[in-house]
Amino acid sequence: MNKPENLTHSIEERAKFREMKEGTQEDWAIIGAEYMAFAKDLPDRVLDHLKLLDGDFGGFPVCRLEHSLQTATRAHRDGRDEQYVVMALLHDIGDTLGSYNHPEVAASIIKPFVTEEIHWICQNHGAFQGYYYFHHLGMDRNVRDKFQDSPHYQACAEFCEKYDQAAFDPDYESEPLEFFEPMVRRVMAKPLASMYAKAIEE
Ligand SMILES: [Fe+2]
Ligand SMILES: [Fe+2]
Repeated sequence: MNKPENLTHSIEERAKFREMKEGTQEDWAIIGAEYMAFAKDLPDRVLDHLKLLDGDFGGFPVCRLEHSLQTATRAHRDGRDEQYVVMALLHDIGDTLGSYNHPEVAASIIKPFVTEEIHWICQNHGAFQGYYYFHHLGMDRNVRDKFQDSPHYQACAEFCEKYDQAAFDPDYESEPLEFFEPMVRRVMAKPLASMYAKAIEE
């Protein structure tokens, strides 16, 4: 993983505490400056991680990166806004580290940068996607029904119907990852909400 060049590492420029309760304002000025530089490069780390899906087929007709690009391309060509398209691009980024709960990984990453509905779609797309295959595995394809009282039910069902379940076509001409990079950088430029928001404000 890349380390930003402007991060400092000499011992004089590190906090002096051995337990956090000993921390001083000077310590936290050092850490705060490092944090700002580190946080700024979040889009690069996310894009690097997304590339881990390249060539990972898992038995599917297309690899997981192509599925992600195809989902995002279909959403973009259908006129969805940037937050939505970035969610579509990243919705399966948790496949590597969240093999048993991948939607929650992606949802957590995008949460500070998107609307509540877009976050909800990402977080729950696994159950809605199941409508298209759970019955082939002896499971209940209607497990999504447990969300039927949610105001976001239709939006999530639509995401899966139009983009996610439709994005396994090896002949579809998806946009390359470079096409979406500026969108990822714009959407992740500044959190809309975060418990650290006050410290981030300049
Ligand atoms: Fe998924
Ligand atoms: Fe997917």
